[in-house]
Amino acid sequence: MTTYETLRRTLEVAPRIWLVTGVAGFIGSNLLETLLKLDQRVIGLDNFATGYPHNLDEVQSLVSAEQWDNFRFIEGDIRNLDDCRRAAEGVDYVLHQAALGSVPRSLDDPLATNASNIDGFLNMLVAARDAGVKSFVYAASSSTYGDHPGLPKVEDMIGKPLSPYAVTKYVNELYAEVFARCYGFTTIGLRYFNVFGRRQDPEGAYAAVIPRWIAAMIDGDDVIINGDGETSRDFCFVDNVVQVNLLAAASTDEAARNQVYNVAVGDRTSLNQLFEALRGALAANAVRYEKPPVYHDFRAGDVRHSQADITKAKRLLGFVPSHTIEAGLKAVMPWYVKRRAVTRGSRR
Ligand SMILES: NC(=O)c1ccc[n+]([C@@H]2O[C@H](COP(=O)([O-])OP(=O)(O)OC[C@H]3O[C@@H](n4cnc5c(N)ncnc54)[C@H](O)[C@@H]3O)[C@@H](O)[C@H]2O)c1
Repeated sequence: MTTYETLRRTLEVAPRIWLVTGVAGFIGSNLLETLLKLDQRVIGLDNFATGYPHNLDEVQSLVSAEQWDNFRFIEGDIRNLDDCRRAAEGVDYVLHQAALGSVPRSLDDPLATNASNIDGFLNMLVAARDAGVKSFVYAASSSTYGDHPGLPKVEDMIGKPLSPYAVTKYVNELYAEVFARCYGFTTIGLRYFNVFGRRQDPEGAYAAVIPRWIAAMIDGDDVIINGDGETSRDFCFVDNVVQVNLLAAASTDEAARNQVYNVAVGDRTSLNQLFEALRGALAANAVRYEKPPVYHDFRAGDVRHSQADITKAKRLLGFVPSHTIEAGLKAVMPWYVKRRAVTRGSRR
């Protein structure tokens, strides 16, 4: 039995109270779904800046009525300390996901990104510390590696940030470390690499590459590749991210606490390879896309290559990724095909 399966069994007999911030977003709603299915009690905080009520509705449809009764939603803003205090009261573990994602968004509006990602982060840290939570697990980012050329990325070798977003995520790590040192507060940072899966938003200028391309392929639109297509990423299915959040929060190993971890699979896929993989996964769902990709200029702030060394998370947290990129794409594609049919139908 893996460490994760053992943890799932432990949680089922000893429920806890979890706070998931950013609960109406992509990763937050996946955390909510798993926690409720494990009969945990969950408080969710979100201001719907980039998350949606329909993500919460979908989770409700996937759990039993009794499990849904274990969820309490607070519509609130992490930029407001009182909202954070209200949400953190009586909580065992915090899984802090709320933030404004996207490198391009942060280049367009660095003030907004700073306000949610740094001021909001600090509010949540203070509220969680004062509420006496057992551990504070937060979404860090692979963007913290910045211009460091090393591959694969190892946690203690970072470069200079390449965007305002990357600055905010690095500042999170600095604050978390200082809270551990100065207040004896337990924090664990998870440097997510490019995450994909159910409920990731395909709409808007700041959509991530996988949902954006899937939507374009289903609609028969052009797929735009920024650069020559040899830019590469360590794409990580969301179930892997959920697993490592739970392992990190519940870890009682002193050596595992107050650390940051890479969260990915340890593979590298170029955008050209991704294009072919998506086309193949859609074909398996009876959606054919015949057009070649359209190449545009490289995008400012983007890192050229990204691949994680996940040895540390394996060793200290017992992380065993359940899905490769291929397995993740296979698992998620029916969801996108169905969702696209529903949204297109509702526009008619
Ligand atoms: N998706 C990825 O590939 C990836 C990679 C690295 C890091 N991350 C980080 O993971 C976390 C979750 O990202 P996601 O992909 O689920 O994005 P998302 O946009 O789907 O979710 C973020 C959620 O936070 C909420 N939020 C934003 N500002 C808020 C505020 N001021 N107060 C309350 N709620 C607020 C949004 O409404 C949204 O529901 C973020 O911290 C992000 O920076 C994501």
